Amino acid sequence: MHDVTISAINSFEQIGDARSKMLIQKLVKSIHDYVDEVELTQSEWEMAIDFLTRTGQLCHEQRQEYILLSDVLGVSMLVDEINHSKNVEQTPSTVFGPFFIANMPIRHYADSIVEENVNNEIPLLVKGKILNQQGEAIVGAKIEVWQTAENGMYSGQDPDQLLTNLRGAFISQVQGEYAFKSILPVSYQIPSDGTVGELLNYSKRHFWRPAHIHFMITAEGHQPLVTHLFIQDDEYLNGDAVFGVKDRLIVGFQQRNASAEDQAKFAVDANYNLIDYDFVLSEGE
Ligand SMILES: [Fe+2]
Repeated sequence: MHDVTISAINSFEQIGDARSKMLIQKLVKSIHDYVDEVELTQSEWEMAIDFLTRTGQLCHEQRQEYILLSDVLGVSMLVDEINHSKNVEQTPSTVFGPFFIANMPIRHYADSIVEENVNNEIPLLVKGKILNQQGEAIVGAKIEVWQTAENGMYSGQDPDQLLTNLRGAFISQVQGEYAFKSILPVSYQIPSDGTVGELLNYSKRHFWRPAHIHFMITAEGHQPLVTHLFIQDDEYLNGDAVFGVKDRLIVGFQQRNASAEDQAKFAVDANYNLIDYDFVLSEGE
């Protein structure tokens, strides 16, 4: 090991918290090992600093280029795998992604998250239950959802959409039920106008993600679940730019004619597409 590597690692010896100390010292060692192994040149170092600087400068409340970078490097899914692989009953988790916006409106059971006029879209009803690992209903779980519009863009990213469009929070009912109306999501390209775009273009990688709806489900006494539902038969299911697809998260949808019961319960009045999916949460904090 180089003297400077040893000195740099030792300089963090005074950190009181053992976990933090280990994280920082290992990080310093990994970076030094990388620089040493590839014999990084001065200009390559400058390029890296410039890339990271510009990545940071792109970030603001509605844009998170660092999460996107973590996603396309596969780091987000590696963190996910390490932290969530042990429990088979629980609904699998996947990437959080860069497009979440907190504090979106709390909506009523079976309300629509569509706030803009959409062109002749067949309504989509997404419904199911929030359950624990014993199959019992979790009442009062908060289900936050977000998805793209027909143009493949999220509100916050697209100046033409209301910030609350295709987003919302729902609370699970007495038997754990949740339901909301929307439109089918579309496959979309992650943003290509930033440093992540430069990296993917340089690497001749594509920008596509298969169509999906994002979910973040939180309930007292349970581990939060961050996941997606992917729509089956999407051409990018085998080539997600951020490596986020898991088989158990791929769902089909059924075309339905609204019965009197559906009309009463979900306020759907003609043909609609149905996704029926139960989410299972693990106990814990
Ligand atoms: Fe997404």
